[in-house]
Amino acid sequence: MIEVQNITKRYTAKVVAVENLSFQAKAGEIYGLLGPNGAGKTTTLRMLATLLEPTSGTLTVAGFDTKRQPEDVRRTIGVVNGGMGLYDRLTGKEILEYFAGFYNMGKQDTQKRIAELSDALEMNELLNRRASEYSTGMKQKIVIARAVIHNPSVLILDEATNGLDVVARRAVLEFARGYKNSSRVVLYSTHIMAEAEELCERAAIIDHGKLIAQDTISNLKQKANTNNLEEAFFRLTKGVA
Ligand SMILES: Nc1ncnc2c1ncn2[C@@H]1O[C@H](COP(=O)(O)OP(=O)(O)OP(=O)(O)O)[C@@H](O)[C@H]1O
Ligand SMILES: [Mg+2]
Repeated sequence: MIEVQNITKRYTAKVVAVENLSFQAKAGEIYGLLGPNGAGKTTTLRMLATLLEPTSGTLTVAGFDTKRQPEDVRRTIGVVNGGMGLYDRLTGKEILEYFAGFYNMGKQDTQKRIAELSDALEMNELLNRRASEYSTGMKQKIVIARAVIHNPSVLILDEATNGLDVVARRAVLEFARGYKNSSRVVLYSTHIMAEAEELCERAAIIDHGKLIAQDTISNLKQKANTNNLEEAFFRLTKGVA
């Protein structure tokens, strides 16, 4: 579903954010993209989302090339990144309707989809309140619902639980778990190892833009000779494993 092949992203002569990175994520899995601050996670996800072009290398999503078929890629993915950017004066429902319009979804489809997402994310009556009244957790639920309004087969989550309390965080993890199925994949980027351990089958660990390791979570731990993923992450990125 997701194929990243030998990508390099050079922002300036001095800053190489991603270097020769390759990994693949298959339908039916939640794939982790793990790395410390500045590792190149967001840069990689932005290239997958067609928001940035790689300096070299190729990225394909569901068979579509990000460079040659950017519109097909955009139709296929849903992206949750740091920014919330909700229109404060609109209600959650209006925001979702507005985005459904971008994908030319019909009225009935839109209402059906909003009802489904309202159930899945437990948004219910809050959908009819204005976004300015929402808690951070509720805002993030709208951001996630907005990202998947068009039922994309690829969901990209970049630090999607940042700043959320336990309850809201749990809701996001549950949603990610419920989202993947045999024809969908979730790419989950985080530096929180407990979340990766809980959610992901496989993961790539990157640091300074380079791939450090890529494997199942249990093999990554085995490689680093520990049964704690955080410790494995530390050992692998410090090169002491
Ligand atoms: N627009 C830009 N121009 C120049 N350098 C950039 C730009 N965006 C990111 N970088 C640099 O590229 C590197 C990778 O950044 P990136 O945001 O992809 O990392 P990240 O893994 O998402 O980190 P974090 O965990 O802090 O979100 C960093 O060194 C960063 O300073
Ligand atoms: Mg980032």
